[in-house]
Amino acid sequence: MWEDLKLYGRERERIQVDRVLAAARSGRGSALVLSGDPAIGKTALLRAALDQATGFRVLRCEGIRAESGLDYAALHELLLPVADRLPLLPPAQARALGVVLGLDSGPAEAFLVGAALVRLLTELAAERPLLLIVDEARLVDPESARAIVFAIRRLTAAPVALLVALRDDPADTLWRDLPALARHRSVRRRVAPLARRAVRPAGRAATIPDPHPGRRKPAGPARIAGCGR
Ligand SMILES: Nc1ncnc2c1ncn2[C@@H]1O[C@H](COP(=O)(O)OP(=O)(O)OP(=O)(O)O)[C@@H](O)[C@H]1O
Ligand SMILES: [Mg+2]
Repeated sequence: MWEDLKLYGRERERIQVDRVLAAARSGRGSALVLSGDPAIGKTALLRAALDQATGFRVLRCEGIRAESGLDYAALHELLLPVADRLPLLPPAQARALGVVLGLDSGPAEAFLVGAALVRLLTELAAERPLLLIVDEARLVDPESARAIVFAIRRLTAAPVALLVALRDDPADTLWRDLPALARHRSVRRRVAPLARRAVRPAGRAATIPDPHPGRRKPAGPARIAGCGR
């Protein structure tokens, strides 16, 4: 689980997250794609969304390079906490997701996986609103990305919210179909550099921890969150 984070600024983005969550609470499936440069604060916004999502069941996954060539790796991570719910599904769908979760052998048929995901998420969302979080989405394996997009496009009338974060322009990725096909329910937002005033309350410098220790050594909070530009 992510550690607690004191989030500076980002009022507009948080309002947008609130809107997506409110839509889901009222039974309208909704998605928000956050894109922006490395270390600009996308994951920080996802972490903050956990506090905003009172009453939601949260399922999360993160794309990582080592698994981006592994079919359904991200979906496996997303669904592992609800693996015990497969019996809710018709047998063919349960088998398809059983393969994804490594409980069954055999190739997973993409359409069946998508259909099973729709059904499983619908069942889960009937219990309480559901928040799906996909971080580092550009590194998510394509099969998982396709299955999630497939499901979200069909969950227009279910209390399901999806938050996606990625560095690239979503238009260049499989995630582009989320906002394009559901214009009024999903939004994309380019996360801009944090305003300097947001991280220096009352004129004092605030310290934002190094996101990637050892990888890159920004000089201070202004460079880490890209603020003050
Ligand atoms: N608004 C903020 N308030 C407090 N800390 C922040 C804020 N934005 C970013 N940070 C901190 O700055 C660092 C970089 O942010 P984050 O990891 O969210 O960037 P990112 O956009 O997800 O980067 P990447 O593309 O590499 O995943 C983290 O330590 C994070 O906690
Ligand atoms: Mg991140």
